[in-house]
Amino acid sequence: MVASNKKIETAAPTNIVIFGVTGDLSKRKLMPALVRMLCCGLVHTDSKIIGVVNNRTEEVWINLVREGMQEFSPEIVEDESRWKKFLARLIMVPGDLGDETTYQRLAEALVELDGKKNAMFYCAIPPDWYGKVTSGLRKAGLANEDDGYRRLVIEKPFGHNLESARALNKELQSVFKEEQIYRIDHYLGKESVQNLLVYRFANSIMEPLWNRNYIDHIQISTAETLGIEYRAKYYERSGALRDMIQSHLMQMMTLVAMEPPVEFTADAVRDEKMKVLRAIRSIKPEEIKLHAVSAQYASGTVEGEAAKAYVSEEFVSPDSATETFAAVRFYIDNWRWEGVPFILWSGKRMKSKSSEVMIRFRKPPFNLFDSHASAPAANALVFRLQPESGVVLRLNAKKPGLTTDNEEMVMRAPYAADEGEVADAYEILMHDVLTGDGTLFSRADEVESSWQIVEPILDAWKNRVSVERYRAGTWDIPAMDELTKDCVGGWHKPTVHK
Ligand code: BG6
Repeated sequence: MVASNKKIETAAPTNIVIFGVTGDLSKRKLMPALVRMLCCGLVHTDSKIIGVVNNRTEEVWINLVREGMQEFSPEIVEDESRWKKFLARLIMVPGDLGDETTYQRLAEALVELDGKKNAMFYCAIPPDWYGKVTSGLRKAGLANEDDGYRRLVIEKPFGHNLESARALNKELQSVFKEEQIYRIDHYLGKESVQNLLVYRFANSIMEPLWNRNYIDHIQISTAETLGIEYRAKYYERSGALRDMIQSHLMQMMTLVAMEPPVEFTADAVRDEKMKVLRAIRSIKPEEIKLHAVSAQYASGTVEGEAAKAYVSEEFVSPDSATETFAAVRFYIDNWRWEGVPFILWSGKRMKSKSSEVMIRFRKPPFNLFDSHASAPAANALVFRLQPESGVVLRLNAKKPGLTTDNEEMVMRAPYAADEGEVADAYEILMHDVLTGDGTLFSRADEVESSWQIVEPILDAWKNRVSVERYRAGTWDIPAMDELTKDCVGGWHKPTVHK
C-alpha cells in the first residue's frame, strides 16, 4: 500500500489553449480561475494562454476579455500592473474551428517553453464540435507528445446515451490516449466533494459503520432555486436525469460507496468507482415506475419572486414533457451495500438551494426510554456541500429535566471558516490537468457504465407526452414520498438542516 497525497505544485510552463474562448464558460470560470492560478503560482508564470478566435480582431477579443474580467475578477483589471502581466500571457490564433488551417496556425503559435511545447487543449465548446477539434489537432500533429505533453479537456455532456458516449470515446481515443483525456465533472472539483473522501478514509470511526449493518439508506441530492435560465435549447434535449443524475450525482454516489482504494491515484480510485457502477442493480423496464420519479416545474414563487412555468420559458415547447426534477432509487448489489437504497434526486426551482449527501442510520433496535416522549429519531450524518459546506450529525439527547424524554441534538461542523478559503472547482481541476493528475476526472468506462445504468429510464421517458408538475418554490412532489416510503425518515428535504 502506498500513501499518496495530492500535491500543490507549480505546473511546468504550458501553452493553455482555449477553444470557445469568447463563450460564457471561459468568461465566467476559466479566465478568472487562470488569473487566480497565475497570481498564486499554480500556473507557471511563463505559461501562455492561447485563445482560438473566429471573426474578431485581436483588439476586439482583448476588450471582451477585459469586460469579462471586469465582471468576474474586477481586482485584476483595476490593478493596472496585474492586468498588464496577464495581458502579456495572451496570444490570439484567428480561425474557424471547422477549418483545418486553423490548427496549422495553432501548431505554429505554440511557444517553446523550457525547451518543450507542452499544451493543454480546453474545449469550452458545444460537444458536437469535439470531433472536429480533435481531428484538426491530429492532422496538425498536435496530439502526439514528442515535443511536450498534450492534454485534452472536455466538458459534459459526454454523449446523450450509451451509444453516443461510446462513439464519442472512440472518436477521442482514436486521436488521444485515454491518459491524455480529461473529462471534467465540475462536482468532483468542489472541495467539499473531495472532502467526502477525507472524511471517509481519514477517520477510523466511519469505516465500521459504513455498511448495510448500520445504514438504512443514503440520499444524494442537489436542489436548485434557479430555473433553466438561458439554456432551454440544451435542457429540452437533456432533462434532469441526464443533466445531473447520470453525471454529478452518480459520480458522488461512487465516492460514497466505493471501497478504500489502494492509493490515492487516478486509476486506483477510478477502479474502485467502476466496481460500484458494475454492482448497481439494473432496473427492468417494468420496474421504472417503482424506482424513478420525474416532474416539471409549474409557475410559482421562489425566494419571494414570481417564477414562470418551465413550459413558458423561452425556447421551451409549450407541451414539453422534459423533467426538471428527477429521482432514482438505486441498489448496489455487493457485500457492503446489499439492500441499502441510494436515492439520488435533483431539481430546479425548488424551495431552497442545497447539495447534500445524507447517510441515514438504522433506528435503535429497542426503545429503552419510551416514556412520554416520541421514540428517538434515527441518527443522520449529513455532508453538506453547498451553499455552505460542512458536516451535520443528528443525535438523540436527554431533554433537561427530571424525565428521560429525548430530543434531537444537531451538531454542526462547518468546513471552512469563510468561502474565500475554498478553492474554486475550476482552479482545482485545471491545476490537476496541468500536473497530469486524472483522479478527479471521469474515465471512459465510468461514463459508459453510468449511461448504461440510466438508459432504461431514458428509454421509458423518451416518448411520453406528459409529466407530473410541481409548483416552483415548493417540495410538492408526492411521488417522492412514495419512493422513500420504506426509508427511515422518508424524503429528506435539505432545509431541515439549515
Ligand atoms: C451543471 C448543470 O452541470 O451543473 C446545470 O448542467 C446545473 O444545470 C449545474 O445548474 C449545477 O452546478 P452547481 O455547481 O451550481 O451546483
